[in-house]
Amino acid sequence: MTLLVTGCAGFIGSNFVRCWLSSSNESLVNLDSLTYAGNLANLAWVKDDERHIFVRGDIRDQLLVSRLLEKYQPRAIVNFAAESHVDRSIRGPGDFIETNVVGTLNLLECVRTYWADLPEQQSAFRFLHISTDEVYGSLATTDASFEEGNAFRPNSPYSASKAASDHLVRAWHHTYGLPALTINCSNNYGPYQFPEKLIPLVIVNALANKALPIYGDGKQIRDWLYVEDHCRAICRVLQEGRVGETYNVGGKSEKTNIEVVTLICSILDELRPRADGISYAKQISFVKDRSGHDRRYAINTGKIENELGWKPDETFNSGIRKTVQWYLDNKTWVEAVASGAYREWMDKHYGN
Ligand code: NAD
Ligand code: DAU
Repeated sequence: MTLLVTGCAGFIGSNFVRCWLSSSNESLVNLDSLTYAGNLANLAWVKDDERHIFVRGDIRDQLLVSRLLEKYQPRAIVNFAAESHVDRSIRGPGDFIETNVVGTLNLLECVRTYWADLPEQQSAFRFLHISTDEVYGSLATTDASFEEGNAFRPNSPYSASKAASDHLVRAWHHTYGLPALTINCSNNYGPYQFPEKLIPLVIVNALANKALPIYGDGKQIRDWLYVEDHCRAICRVLQEGRVGETYNVGGKSEKTNIEVVTLICSILDELRPRADGISYAKQISFVKDRSGHDRRYAINTGKIENELGWKPDETFNSGIRKTVQWYLDNKTWVEAVASGAYREWMDKHYGN
């Protein structure tokens, strides 16, 4: 048995590969175009594992996707591939529409043809789409948390592109009967996250004696989820989720950005004190706010808890400590990513 997974050279996908292969013998075909966010060093430990087959390619490539489906006959697809960074979507939305919308459409269309021709296992097939809580828009501090039935109110080009892809998945289930499911997840953090996102950026900048930029007043709230908890939720939804449904996944860890950054500084003060003995918090710098910055995200996890028995294992305190330690222990990875050197090996082997 095989799964076709997309975008698994990135942050969540590479953690998912590790999580999956440590508990299953089912192989994974990993289709990833290796954008700036794709890094095969994230998958170094599966380098010699025959259960992981890496294919460099684009989810928009109809011929390639169809050939992979034909060749490997997967029993499911998990779609992680996306442009994922909100700030980049504000600077240049085009790639977000291309990958997140057109790419998802192409996957759905290729899969529809493949699935229609499947002899007996049509109803067992799954298309699992990985999406974000940002599709629901922004909450006030007094609002209840996001539930699956909430209306979509995306505010950034990124969240609008993800909302569009979620609608496509829903429509392909409703119209064609494709056995599809969607996860809408809150902010992930943990090993192998590219240091453009808040948590790894702050850790990497702190150690490099650079400023720790906080947008606006720093009181925006995110609901932080340790990436391994998300990966367990993905496995659960894939195995037991109800077809046609969406599942919200979150960490029950609402924090303001300033709380997050201050906590990281205090953990670093303990684990790797600055040579001058001054706290890393000295490096915090309030900067211009993000355009259209969403104020608060918060997830109600009742549905996945009640239906599938999933809940997060990590608290924010335990997860963030592990994460800081991981970045301290993985200096080679951090340096290669921070300097851009991580591209060299991949460009040499796969072209640029
Ligand atoms: P990431 O940016 O770290 O990785 C994305 C991966 O997709 C990269 O390996 C990249 O090379 C690949 N990719 C991009 N465009 C591609 C294309 N056209 N064809 C093939 N591969 C392509 O992203 P992530 O943080 O791991 O997020 C994974 C998924 O989870 C995304 O769909 C994202 O929207 C969603 N999500 C992320 C978070 C989060 O906090 N990071 C939270 C909720 C949902
Ligand atoms: O909610 C899920 C989403 O979480 C995912 O769908 C996205 O793929 C993922 O990137 C993330 O989006 P955010 O915009 O919330 O994450 P980011 O790490 O970019 O920012 C987290 C918060 O920190 C946000 O309020 C903006 C703020 N921020 C971010 C950066 C990079 C800063 O204050 N300073 C920064 O330098």
